[in-house]
Amino acid sequence: MSNKTITLINNSDGRKTELPLYKGTIGPEVMDIGKLYSEMGIFTFDPGFLATGSCRSSITYIDGDKGKLWYRGYPIEQLAEHAKFLEVAYLLLYGELPSVDELAKFEHIITHHSMLNETLKNFFDGFHYNAHPMAVMVGVVGSLSAFYHDSLDVNNPRHREISAHRMIAKMPTIAAASYKHNIGEPLVYPRNDLDYCANFLHMMFATPCEEYIPDPVATKAVNLLFILHADHEQNASTSTVRLAGSSHANPFACLASGIASLWGPSHGGANEAVLDMLNKIGDAANVDKFILKAKDPNDPFRLMGFGHRVYKNHDPRATIIRKVCHELLDSMTDSDNPTFELALKLEEVALSDEYFVERKLYPNVDFYSGIIYRALNIPRSMFTVMFAIARTVGWMAHWMEMMDDPDQRIGRPRQIYTGHDLRDYVPMDKR
Ligand code: SDX
Repeated sequence: MSNKTITLINNSDGRKTELPLYKGTIGPEVMDIGKLYSEMGIFTFDPGFLATGSCRSSITYIDGDKGKLWYRGYPIEQLAEHAKFLEVAYLLLYGELPSVDELAKFEHIITHHSMLNETLKNFFDGFHYNAHPMAVMVGVVGSLSAFYHDSLDVNNPRHREISAHRMIAKMPTIAAASYKHNIGEPLVYPRNDLDYCANFLHMMFATPCEEYIPDPVATKAVNLLFILHADHEQNASTSTVRLAGSSHANPFACLASGIASLWGPSHGGANEAVLDMLNKIGDAANVDKFILKAKDPNDPFRLMGFGHRVYKNHDPRATIIRKVCHELLDSMTDSDNPTFELALKLEEVALSDEYFVERKLYPNVDFYSGIIYRALNIPRSMFTVMFAIARTVGWMAHWMEMMDDPDQRIGRPRQIYTGHDLRDYVPMDKR
């Protein structure tokens, strides 16, 4: 806590106050406005929270101008190159890289929580076959509090940890079950002899008719994509989980709210929207037409996979994924190169256009991820589900951090009221 302050003076009535300034480990200073209303009679106004910090957090650091992303201080580039996803999950949950024994114990716990309560199978059957897997995931995750009564005391740290383990373990099983329901194939149970990413591919693509051996190249690609999507500070879905959790709702309900928020095409739904957009563009000859549409203020069309609230430089995750796209597609003979080539062409044209350069609209994590998922035969409707599996680690890490925070209070923003002034009820015969 620093003793630096900032003085605010209201020029219309001369009222003034000193507000504390805080500085984190790194990054901009923040002004604590907690006493602003009591001392100055005014609120702040910041729709979209462009310049508003909601909490202290030690989980992830982003520098949008320099394109930096650190998980607990470790640069994403190093974790992407060297780590296993569950190793990163442990780091995000507990703050330190695990030892060999710690990782083995954590992997054992996660592996042995990966099954679902058998009666949940009826829940999947309740959905129409063509229900979007994200809709199934929101419903199934939200229902889990009906099954796990033994760990719902949100004030009990051990209950919080058990819920986090359960969710990280069960999300791949729920995701794969949503997919199997969608294509009319029997659900595939998790296998304890496979690691997290290989187990997910097995549950997605195995059938009772023949042995399925997860492709090591595909498993490595999924491991990388899960690491890159695991956390991203106070994004919309993580902030949704925090706000839901601030009322002390159970963790499954909080997670379901995060999944719902992630589904939006402006957020995690963008990866699916990118593929839809590339399919609509179809050919490099149409790129200019779509760039014009994206620039037209009267056209709601936006270039999906471009732009970011924080990154005003390259999204380091997009840079890593773009490189892997090249390697993966080059190594796969029947890969979907035309889509990737079109994406590269779109990126080249957009990044040489004044409109995008001026607004610092670079490709974000969602621009290339769908192309890799598609190369792995993961259907478009599952792209955001993949994002949700990975981000469950971040959501649970932030939920645990928030519930441990002594400053934690229910989130309750204020507003500018723009409705009618006081007026009396009008009887029906006078309307
Ligand atoms: C994710 O927050 C996170 O960390 C999210 C995420 C994570 O890991 O959790 O990183 C994951 O959600 C990545 C973003 C995926 N979304 C998309 O790719 C959808 C397309 N992008 C846009 O919708 C937009 O860029 C946002 C939503 C990502 C950011 O929106 P902002 O910060 O509110 O910016 P804005 O809408 O105010 O845009 C600023 C200007 C506007 O033009 P002007 O009013 O200044 O004339 O840039 C324009 C916008 O019209 N603009 C775009 C554009 N994105 C912004 N114009 C065309 N195409 C785009 N993609």
